[in-house]
Amino acid sequence: METPFGTIHTPNITFDERTGIGRWSKDEFYRALHHGRSRDGSRLYPAFPYPHFTKMPREDVDAVYDYLASRPRVSKERKEHELPFPLSWRRMVGFWNMMFFEPGEFRADPARSPEWNRGAYLVEGPGHCTGCHTERNLAGADNKDRHLMGGRLENWAAPNIRGGRNGGLEDWSAAEIVTFLKTGRNTHTGALTRMGEVVNVSTEEMTEADLGAIATYLKSLDSEARAPSSRPSEAVLKAGRAIYFDNCSACHVSTGVGVPHVFARLAGSNKLNDPDPTTVIRIILEGARAVPTQARPSPLSMPAFGWKLTDDQIASVASYVRASWGNNGAPVTAAQVEDVRSALTARR
Ligand code: HEC
Ligand code: HEC
Repeated sequence: METPFGTIHTPNITFDERTGIGRWSKDEFYRALHHGRSRDGSRLYPAFPYPHFTKMPREDVDAVYDYLASRPRVSKERKEHELPFPLSWRRMVGFWNMMFFEPGEFRADPARSPEWNRGAYLVEGPGHCTGCHTERNLAGADNKDRHLMGGRLENWAAPNIRGGRNGGLEDWSAAEIVTFLKTGRNTHTGALTRMGEVVNVSTEEMTEADLGAIATYLKSLDSEARAPSSRPSEAVLKAGRAIYFDNCSACHVSTGVGVPHVFARLAGSNKLNDPDPTTVIRIILEGARAVPTQARPSPLSMPAFGWKLTDDQIASVASYVRASWGNNGAPVTAAQVEDVRSALTARR
């Protein structure tokens, strides 16, 4: 896992005795998920989502333990983390916990329905949607005032997924949220890289009832009103429109409506309207691939344009699509494109 602080190598959690967690007791496993402590008592880095898993009750943690114990054991050493001092110093995590970590199981809100509470539990606890979709402070902890209003990881923006008034999913029905989490696509968009993994390893395996509960919870969350963004200049719009008609309209259609379930709709796209343009820039530079799922096995791809269009051209076309068809995304500058391009090149 790349984090802004360095690379963390995730450990082997099969029950292999030497390289995995085969010697861990149920109590030790619970302590890791609930308090962020390793078997020997040392502190785990919060990149391991114990600030979310702490919400899981003992029976659920034990069930996960039993499931992992039933899986094949794999011998695989873990690499050392690449973290700079003083973060490499695990005792620092003690200070972090003191500031930001609240251990404690999920408490149901009696004023809400059981379905809402189930959804809240899944989103905040084991699903840890909050971990990616919430902005982080400088120490890497969730900024609670910006809960689910959009976060950033590995040069991707994870958009606002609040579904109430002004939320990123305001225009999605609860049923459309379920379809997205179950199949990786719906009429609005498709799950790409990190979200594609979440769908593939997690939400597509969830029951319809649990997905419905997540949708109920997300739909109940209002968000902040979005101020109208500044508009690009006429010159930028004109240049962007020309690039769009040459390169994009064959799939996304001249009016930006796309082709349902095949080519994403750009009009009203939550990814496009995101105040953070990182995802859009990245999709244009690298192309995109909506993940195949059991329900929708054929992958859908968009070609890369990074080799073909300059930073200026990408900034113009991104500004054009963010300002057209009712979209409300601020103009993108060539410098922003340059930043994403060089970050991606550095990774390679
Ligand atoms: C590992 C980080 C991560 C986790 C965990 C995660 N997401 Fe996402 N999510 C993303 C990213 C990044 C995107 C946008 C790019 C993509 O599709 O990969 C996204 C996109 C989405 C979208 C599409 C929004 C749009 O309008 O384009 C929805 C809906 C969504 N996530 C819901 C969820 C829910 C619900 C959960 C918890 C069950 C969750 N996510 C957990 C990273 C994450
Ligand atoms: C060959 C067809 C094709 C072309 C050409 C194409 N795209 Fe795409 N685009 C796709 C597919 C497929 C996806 C990913 C699937 C999805 O999200 O539904 C996608 C996704 C996107 C998204 C994400 C939208 C969202 O909310 O999920 C944006 C933004 C986008 N394209 C912009 C562009 C721009 C700008 C151009 C021209 C520079 C372009 N595309 C050219 C097929 C295409």
